[in-house]
Amino acid sequence: RNVDTVVSIDEFEELAQAILSDMAVAYYGTGSETEQTLRDERDAWQRVRFRPRVLRKMRHIDTNTTFCGIPTPLPIFVAPAGLARLGHPDGEQNIVRGVAPHNILQVVSSGASCSIDEIFAVKEPEQNLAWQFYVNSDKELAEQKLKKALELGARAIFVTVDVPVLGKRERDLKLKARSQNYEHPIAAQFKEAGSKVAAFDASVGKRGVSDIPDNAHIDANLNWDDIAWIRERAPGVPIVIKGVGCVEDVELAHQYGADGVVLSTHGGRQLDGARAPLDVLIEVRRKRPELLSKLEVYVDGGARRGTDVVKALCLGARGVGFGRPFLYAQSVYAHEGVSKAVEILEAEVHMAMRLLGANTLADLKPEMVECSFPERW
Ligand code: FNR
Repeated sequence: RNVDTVVSIDEFEELAQAILSDMAVAYYGTGSETEQTLRDERDAWQRVRFRPRVLRKMRHIDTNTTFCGIPTPLPIFVAPAGLARLGHPDGEQNIVRGVAPHNILQVVSSGASCSIDEIFAVKEPEQNLAWQFYVNSDKELAEQKLKKALELGARAIFVTVDVPVLGKRERDLKLKARSQNYEHPIAAQFKEAGSKVAAFDASVGKRGVSDIPDNAHIDANLNWDDIAWIRERAPGVPIVIKGVGCVEDVELAHQYGADGVVLSTHGGRQLDGARAPLDVLIEVRRKRPELLSKLEVYVDGGARRGTDVVKALCLGARGVGFGRPFLYAQSVYAHEGVSKAVEILEAEVHMAMRLLGANTLADLKPEMVECSFPERW
């Protein structure tokens, strides 16, 4: 099927399921344990409804904004997701090439299957890439990685903080348990990656594909003071804390000087039973709305539509991240799929804004949505 026949983001997943290896299907799709959070973070978008306004001159729509000072024509970004080469040989490079014509922000994963050099090598000169940081328990190694990303020109650092231990991702584990001659798909790359990483090889893959070195060696003692450690080593570069799940931690992120947070459950792959990120956004809006103008609050998890983006922005989010949709799109159609996914989301965001009565992102207000707020949290 030609890429031009794809009409909605969900179709990329359907098409990908037909061509992906069992390993990729399990790794990309899995949530943790009962997958309650995985399901809930998709359902959460359905619990918010619009209160549209009419007769507002809707010919011109402007969706330009900035993420931590980085200009973006749409309030969406590519969330960092590992092992794109499981789906297509060009992997993360497909995503770089696919978003280039749109210049939306791609957050490059620490668990990428192309090396960071390969990823940055194919970007356009003006293209903005951010880097996602798993802080390794070996601080020297962590520092080297951060330095490398900054040298290559990462425009922001997204520090993922919801993985003091890897979640129990059962589709991935089951496949591993049942496979003969299981070899981690990027084992060879680890061996080339330098002596320290090579020393970790023995443990790699014991818990399935999710067990990549940067995941397996995250510092479980990471704490708020480490934000200053990162800040010192990345002067002038915005720091966004990814994986925040309650209003108290949004407040702390602000106190510790973060430029932004991503409300996220890691795509339902970490604490099963955690609330959907959209519900956390509603909590922030309800309890501490002033925080939404003190730092930038992003959301990811289960978003698949332009209307989802618009709902989050009405509630005060700065932008919305998409993880799996880009993995699936590049698996089937390489960079053209990625580009098409952005086009679909762009058209849907524009349409939703026209139908809602908002010409600019500043016009998106909490009064334009209704949420079934629980009385207590
Ligand atoms: C992820 N995610 C993730 N996050 C991160 O900070 N570093 C990483 O390496 C990864 N890797 C990863 C792999 C795969 C296969 C998935 C599905 C997810 C989480 C990701 O950034 C994001 O939070 C979710 O993917 C958002 O949910 P959706 O859009 O996939 O529903």
